[in-house]
Amino acid sequence: MSNTSCLLIRRAAILLPNGEFLVGDVLTRDRQIISVAPEISPATGEEAITEIDATGLTLLPGVIDPQVHFREPGLEHKEDLFTASCACARGGVTSFLEMPNTRPLTTTQEALDDKLQRASQKCLVNYGFFIGATADNLPDLLTANPTPGIKIFMGSMHGQLLVDQDTALEDIFAKGDRLIAVHAEDQARINQRRQEFAGITDPDVHSKIQDNLAALLATQQALGLSRKYQRRLHILHMSTGEEAELLRTDKPSWVTAEVTPQHLLLNTSAYEKIGTLAQMNPPLRSPHDNEVLWQALLDGVIDFIATDHAPHTLAEKAQQYPNTPSGMPGVETSLPLMLTAASQGRCTVAQVSNWMSTAVAKAYNIPKKGAIASGYDADLVLVDLKTHHPVLREELLTKSGWSPFEGWNLTGWPVTTIVGGQIVYHKGKLNTEVRGEALTFDTNLM
Ligand code: DOR
Repeated sequence: MSNTSCLLIRRAAILLPNGEFLVGDVLTRDRQIISVAPEISPATGEEAITEIDATGLTLLPGVIDPQVHFREPGLEHKEDLFTASCACARGGVTSFLEMPNTRPLTTTQEALDDKLQRASQKCLVNYGFFIGATADNLPDLLTANPTPGIKIFMGSMHGQLLVDQDTALEDIFAKGDRLIAVHAEDQARINQRRQEFAGITDPDVHSKIQDNLAALLATQQALGLSRKYQRRLHILHMSTGEEAELLRTDKPSWVTAEVTPQHLLLNTSAYEKIGTLAQMNPPLRSPHDNEVLWQALLDGVIDFIATDHAPHTLAEKAQQYPNTPSGMPGVETSLPLMLTAASQGRCTVAQVSNWMSTAVAKAYNIPKKGAIASGYDADLVLVDLKTHHPVLREELLTKSGWSPFEGWNLTGWPVTTIVGGQIVYHKGKLNTEVRGEALTFDTNLM
């Protein structure tokens, strides 16, 4: 008997790398896709083959979410790597890149190794971890491995992870050559606006304090440094029309940018309905910003989508602004939200898949991910583009237990999620035995 495990997905509408759909079969062996064809008749013999009848369903490359905060170690009352990866599996997210603001901070090789070790034990999907910049950890930034890149909080952070001094920023951009991902908000501007609006507890003041100009100033500074040192730059969760317009006129070929579903689909009117649950950094903006960001995404000015999944408990969110933490969960809803937008004619399913998988793999040089083709990793999601189902609090798997999109009636929910050729989620049920792998980042692919 052979020990290989094979999966045969039958009669799916398969999204091919050229953006076209083929109704046909996909065969995987162990962790890889070995064949994609109109009809596959596997050789009978030693191999045990699990078959999935995917009639009426659409097969996409698994989502790669390039910005999440999963809270372990140190903040596990909000989320941990197990609960977060269960939520990923339900949302069709088969790989994630996680941020360094855990406790301890991921600012050393030791802390990075600790996260990798934890993830190998409890993560149902594939994982990678950013190394966080401080004002004085340059040696770690140069050597940490494996990591998708360096995360810099230029603003809206306190403590060691805030890097808002020009000299420290300059130093990080000048030395080394790995990707730098910036949270671009200008801390000096935020501090000044905080004083102007002191004492106001209505949460919509959050978008006024951390305003469009705070985001634009930091993005301008990061772009300037990137150009000066020809340094690979990624702008995280771009939130304003002004930043998008700046990039439209001034985007070096080595710069990429992302946007979140919430910055496309929610705006400041959300504070009225859900109060501090709408509070995040960078904040929600105006309907005009939504439109400009959408257009920038459609035009390729913005390259891809990240959730910035940043869970906090409902008790923490129930405090009074400004004592409430910023952030909202997102990995369970991002794919259906974007596929619902596709069903409404805002974009195509192929564009959604590019923004949520293919373009991310390319930007972070993740080999063999982001496409359904022979030789690629068997990270896949089967979605139902015909049925609508609401976002229900009782169905959420994130430990935080809420979503800003509760009640939204979405289509494109994952039916089956496959990580490395193993079914990790199927029709509401998880297989918690499945484990993801550490992602690799191959700069030779650049
Ligand atoms: O709203 C946010 N919350 N934005 C961030 O960048 C950090 C995050 C968090 O960790 O809570």
